[in-house]
Amino acid sequence: GHSEDALTRIRNIDAIELGRFRIQPWYFSPYPQQLTHLPCIFICEFCLKYLKSDTCLRRHMAKCNINHPPGNQIYSKDSLSFFEIDGRKNKSYAQNLCLLAKLFLDHKTLYYDTDPFLFYVLAEEDDRGHHIVGYFSKEKESAEEYNVACILVLPPYQKKGYGRLLIEFSYELSKREGKSGSPEKPLSDLGLLSYRSFWALAIMEKLMAFKKENKMLEEERPITVVDLTSMTSIRKEDVVSTLQHLELYRYYKGQYIIAISDEKLEAYQKRVAQAQRTKIDPQFLHWWPKE
Ligand code: ACO
Ligand code: ZN
Repeated sequence: GHSEDALTRIRNIDAIELGRFRIQPWYFSPYPQQLTHLPCIFICEFCLKYLKSDTCLRRHMAKCNINHPPGNQIYSKDSLSFFEIDGRKNKSYAQNLCLLAKLFLDHKTLYYDTDPFLFYVLAEEDDRGHHIVGYFSKEKESAEEYNVACILVLPPYQKKGYGRLLIEFSYELSKREGKSGSPEKPLSDLGLLSYRSFWALAIMEKLMAFKKENKMLEEERPITVVDLTSMTSIRKEDVVSTLQHLELYRYYKGQYIIAISDEKLEAYQKRVAQAQRTKIDPQFLHWWPKE
């Protein structure tokens, strides 16, 4: 027979409607069985409550009194905001967010026990409210020092740079905590692509700045993995794997060194500059770690 694991991988919902989007799910998500027979599930884009019909949704929207995610708005710049939501205090929102996210996450399982997590929802504002774009979750206490548990950009918003923004935000929080962090494993294919790209550009950016500064110094001190970790909050292992991936990590005279040519730096200049245009601005982050 089928193992339960195999069954849970079969997509059980044809479509969802969320705000102005109709979206095709990718994977199984444990919505109530009676809803899975319907051609579409209707989801309130603000509180994430799920309903069985358009009529029910409209009735709900008439009395749903929020036009933004719950929790604290801890970042706001231009039309983008981050809301921090406590999985214990806003349990039903957090559970509904996990159900929604599971539609696009293959191997992550977190639906009901949301208490140990915080949720950081990225939203885009227009005249009707703050519309959810994506989110990441984070354990309140992580023994492994993970700074992201699950991360998702909703399909209509994918491949526009929001994933990078979420990842950057997760590292900004780690910087404020004075810690380094890493995403929870395993990563999906898309997750790995996005992290690799983020790590490469974040490290290249620091190497460029270092090279520039160092030109003005009399004495050259080579930059180290520890320096890069403390500047970026990217965990040591991830810095090393990125340097290896970029072929910048060389074994030389009995030790590892970070070796970068001007050509390589130049090749990345454009991409780094481009990524810098849409960056999290720490000035607008109103968040401090709890004692
Ligand atoms: N094909 C090729 N490259 C891609 C793709 C794709 N489909 N999607 C993203 N990338 C690359 C981009 O090219 C970009 O790199 P670049 O800047 O060097 O060009 C980088 O990844 C980031 O792209 P974004 O546009 O910022 O990423 P996006 O907004 O699409 O979000 C995310 C990425 C969150 C992984 C999204 O694809 C998603 O939600 N996927 C489904 C859920 C998932 O797999 N989440 C990660 C699970 S692992 C974990 O949770 C810890
Ligand atoms: Zn609602």
